[in-house]
Amino acid sequence: DGQPALDLRARPLRDLRISVTDRCNFRCTYCMPREVFDSSYTFMPHSALLSFEEISRLAGIFTRLGVEKIRLTGGEPLLRKHLENLVGLLAGLRTPQGRPLDLTLTTNGSVLARKAADLARAGLTRVTVSLDALDSAMFQGMSDSGFTPDDVLRGIDAAAEAGLAPVKVNMVVRRGLNDGQILPMAERFRNTGHILRFIEYMDVGNTNGWNLAEVVPSQEVLDRIGSAYPIEPITDGEMGRVAERWRYLDGGGEIGVISSVTHAFCGGCTRARLSPEGKLFLCLFAHEGYDLRAPLRDGASDDELARILAGIWAGRGDNYSELRGRNMADPSRKIEMSYIGG
Ligand code: GTP
Ligand code: 5AD
Ligand code: SF4
Ligand code: SF4
Repeated sequence: DGQPALDLRARPLRDLRISVTDRCNFRCTYCMPREVFDSSYTFMPHSALLSFEEISRLAGIFTRLGVEKIRLTGGEPLLRKHLENLVGLLAGLRTPQGRPLDLTLTTNGSVLARKAADLARAGLTRVTVSLDALDSAMFQGMSDSGFTPDDVLRGIDAAAEAGLAPVKVNMVVRRGLNDGQILPMAERFRNTGHILRFIEYMDVGNTNGWNLAEVVPSQEVLDRIGSAYPIEPITDGEMGRVAERWRYLDGGGEIGVISSVTHAFCGGCTRARLSPEGKLFLCLFAHEGYDLRAPLRDGASDDELARILAGIWAGRGDNYSELRGRNMADPSRKIEMSYIGG
């Protein structure tokens, strides 16, 4: 107990990303294309989902193995009723050293303006909001929803006002689609205290018809921004970091790039993912998860569950982004992003 769990590549288990629902009120074309996720698509029944008590019990056991950061995702996590109650339970957890966890949430922002204050009061530390375009038509096209960029911007403001700061804003960049929004987005979020991060479009799931030509390498994003507003890298040497950090030389704040296609970061990957019905996935691109709900509902003790988790993590060798396309047993059986979160 209290011993950090290490996987086959000596990576510790530090982050747990918990997907609380497979549903979403957006139909982003790269994640839940409407042709697939239409009215005939079967989402998980509520009885299959882990309850908040089950999630927080498991999360507590994960902290014994080294988890110090928890992120709630979906689908859209704010569609799960009374999510603030789960936040409240998780906010009570402590690391073995007695420290509270970094407790955050990834959301599409559509209903965040209504919920930010309750989430902050329940103990959430910060939020990450996805926003792919400021242009209304482009935003509506990409999210295939009736929401507007203003809805999301209001959510971002409400989150910052509630103290969920700094707010991170994630933009997935697709060439020929929203790459014209790189500079407008940078300008919109300079000098706001929010941290905009540009994500290379990834080949997650099986439904988005991913194509390498649509990936805008992070270096190109940095070149475009840097030629308008000079930037320099921020080096902090933190292990397992997803985003590379940059700052504007004029004091306009920080941006980030997430380059899982051009610069894989599996070597420092400390992340495990828990699906809505309690399967543990060791990689965003995994084919199979490990069922934790069965032992949980069959009455396993905390110690037994801790041993199960430690055993699963000890056998982990995943490094998909380093392989990408090479040596894949069956690339058509990856999990969907809408099911496991980002
Ligand atoms: P912060 O601690 O808030 O900075 O979180 P983060 O840097 O982990 O970023 P976030 O959770 O917002 O993830 C941003 C995006 O990076 C996700 O939506 C994914 O697209 C990508 N990403 C995050 N984790 C992984 C990972 O383990 N593997 C890969 N390939 N991509 C990831
Ligand atoms: N590539 C990169 N990021 C993606 N996201 C969803 N699908 C992809 C993809 N194919 C991002 C969302 C959101 C987060 C949950 O994951 O835009 O920021
Ligand atoms: Fe919903 Fe996020 Fe997927 Fe878009 S990327 S459909 S907002 S889960
Ligand atoms: Fe981690 Fe898998 Fe992403 Fe690599 S591809 S960083 S192993 S989740």
